[in-house]
Amino acid sequence: MTARAAGPSSARVGVAVPAAGSGLRMGGVRKAFLYLLGQPTLLHALGPFLAETRVVAVVVALAPEDASSPPSWLLDLAPRVLVVAGGATRSQSVRSAIAALPEDLDAIAVHDAARPLITLRVVAECLDLALEGFGAVAGCPAVDTLKRVDTQGFVLDTPDRSSFWHAQTPQVFPAGVLRAAYADARAEGTDDSALVERTGSGVRVRMVDAGPSNLKVTRPEDVPVAEAILRGRAER
Ligand code: CTP
Ligand code: MG
Repeated sequence: MTARAAGPSSARVGVAVPAAGSGLRMGGVRKAFLYLLGQPTLLHALGPFLAETRVVAVVVALAPEDASSPPSWLLDLAPRVLVVAGGATRSQSVRSAIAALPEDLDAIAVHDAARPLITLRVVAECLDLALEGFGAVAGCPAVDTLKRVDTQGFVLDTPDRSSFWHAQTPQVFPAGVLRAAYADARAEGTDDSALVERTGSGVRVRMVDAGPSNLKVTRPEDVPVAEAILRGRAER
């Protein structure tokens, strides 16, 4: 992977990485430490950010018991990487990570440790947008027809699929915009952009097409899929 510097060379970006979940849908596995093709999922997820020269600090929020004695492959990874204790929800973990980032940042990215297939191209594109003053959300256009349903699963209507995208991470914002969204300690939700949208900051958020392969390792059946995609990239 090659380093890339776009935008003003003095741009300073911080990355908050929520990695403190308990992986209930994976059967109680700490997914950040789950090995994929011989490397922890968290390391795969951090790689493209560490390859970005604009990234000056990365804070990983681990479960408190792991944060007090992080694995050496994480401690020794890079001077730019810090570890903090996460919280009971993803939002609380993101909040702790943001609080430990340096003050003087132009943009902050949030990226789930459970997304090991993120690419340098998508990271760079999201950073470019945030440094221009926009929000940037990695995702991909919906491919299946969507149905709006009632609580019993009966179809209400069929919205126009062309205006729907799936939201993934990274989600990157001008630093002040993201800090304001997380300033209210009660702000909760699994989507960073949704918190920003609720603040009414007026910042425009643009989707960046990361394709369906930027999957979140969530259930056991995702593991062979993620490994097949990684293997395919290694062979290219
Ligand atoms: N996360 C976190 N702190 C929490 C909960 C989640 O930092 N209290 C992180 C996870 O580690 C993951 C990301 O948020 O990198 C996305 O969450 P998800 O895929 O839901 O992971 P888990 O919460 O661990 O899994 P599950 O919901 O199946 O328990
Ligand atoms: Mg979860």
